[in-house]
Amino acid sequence: MSYDLIVIGAGPGGYVCAIRAAQLGMKVAIVEKRKTLGGTCLNVGCIPSKALLHASEMFEEAGHDFAALGVVVSKPKLDLPAMMKHKADTVTANVQGVAFLMKKNKVDVVFGAGKIAGAGKVEVTGEDGKSQTLETKNIVIATGSDVARLRDKNGKDIAFDEKVVVSSTGALELGAVPKKLVVVGAGVIGLELGSVWRRLGAEVTVIEYLDRILPGMDGEVVKQFQRMLEKQGFVFKLAAKVTDVAVKGSAAKVTFEPVAGGAAETIEADRVLIATGRTPYTEGLGLEAAGVAMERGRVVIDDRFQSNVAGVYAIGDVVRGPMLAHKAEDEGIAVAEILAGQHGHVNYNVIPGVVYTNPEIAAVGATEEELKAKGVAYKAGKFPFTANGRARAMRKADGFVKILADAATDRVLGAHIVGFGAGEMIAEACVLMEFGGSAEDLARTCHAHPTMSEAVKEAALAVAGRAIHI
Ligand code: NAI
Repeated sequence: MSYDLIVIGAGPGGYVCAIRAAQLGMKVAIVEKRKTLGGTCLNVGCIPSKALLHASEMFEEAGHDFAALGVVVSKPKLDLPAMMKHKADTVTANVQGVAFLMKKNKVDVVFGAGKIAGAGKVEVTGEDGKSQTLETKNIVIATGSDVARLRDKNGKDIAFDEKVVVSSTGALELGAVPKKLVVVGAGVIGLELGSVWRRLGAEVTVIEYLDRILPGMDGEVVKQFQRMLEKQGFVFKLAAKVTDVAVKGSAAKVTFEPVAGGAAETIEADRVLIATGRTPYTEGLGLEAAGVAMERGRVVIDDRFQSNVAGVYAIGDVVRGPMLAHKAEDEGIAVAEILAGQHGHVNYNVIPGVVYTNPEIAAVGATEEELKAKGVAYKAGKFPFTANGRARAMRKADGFVKILADAATDRVLGAHIVGFGAGEMIAEACVLMEFGGSAEDLARTCHAHPTMSEAVKEAALAVAGRAIHI
């Protein structure tokens, strides 16, 4: 059998690429090493996290917030196995959905580890050790990423046993709520999964190397957000370097020291989540033998997603740019369209980022720090949810919206939201920016009342100093 396209890796980048290519008339196969489709995102990432984030949020609301709304319930009890079943059912439904989509689009699914075995050849080795070689005109590498390892003071990798010292995968599977959870890394995973277990009863301490949380996000947003998390009970040790994690039985001692130098401290924990980033996953793909150029572990691609080897393309976490499912999906679509002779394109200036904590943080485009560093003259408009009727009615008035617009042209360059439902509200800023819209355009767009998104309109009005409700 000879294919037009073989995609290696069935995460959001790979399977979306396969569907788009099939829609465009190509004969497509997708190769997947896991037993189920959907990659990290559906199996051990975004989807199970969101199931636990939502369930734990409901648990916390029932315990702490209902009474103020006049809803009196007895103290909620945690049924962790039932919560985990909800998570597992959500994952199953989603991965089966992808399998259905492959069938519907007549994409051949080949389970096993894929490897480039020469020009136009992909060797797939199944779990039983048997190999088959498939022929294809083009290959798209969409193998995603793996958990980054943390090294101790002697330069030795700290091992994940996925019981006491866990990665994001193990943190989604804990059999009981830890009494004390130490999280290493105040990035997206650390704060999301830290939130899950804090809501369910864990004391959470986060140790972060930098002097701030959520690097890359707007500084003002993050400052307010950190205070919110501290109010919820998070303890942060910033500018601190973990030098050792010693496991004894079912507990651990985490040693860290100030980055600037000083005395080391040790805290005890019954679980340690290490969430210090992810690294591109390219092991066993035969890239070196195929002569595919790499840079810092990532496949080097041109603006058509092609590597230096003709017919070998790459997308998603294995190439430059943010490691985000939606970025990979858009690249998957773009490369399929390019292979079909169309003009596939990704606008890297308009890729939203969302942190699914409570409240959520959502951002698109430039931060104030980035605009200052580039010397771009800009105007900022801000609006707090405390001045939004719907937010007050729902007792979700924490946070604010900030719109950044070019001082000369009024074009929106960035939008930042911390608040309930921020991840949904950011979409209108994305659409506006995709169309090159101005703060004035956003401000003159009628927004339904009463909605949280009126705060987005008000922040856009505030760019010109004419917000109505503050
Ligand atoms: P991250 O890059 O978001 O954060 C890692 C944090 O660990 C950073 O703050 C970094 O300064 C810190 N760090 C690094 N080395 C350290 C050390 N030795 N000691 C203490 N702190 C250290 O990475 P994270 O949270 O692991 O997520 C991995 C990837 O997955 C990211 O690219 C993220 O964007 C993506 N992701 C996205 C989600 C979303 O969009 N909601 C959810 C989960 C993951």
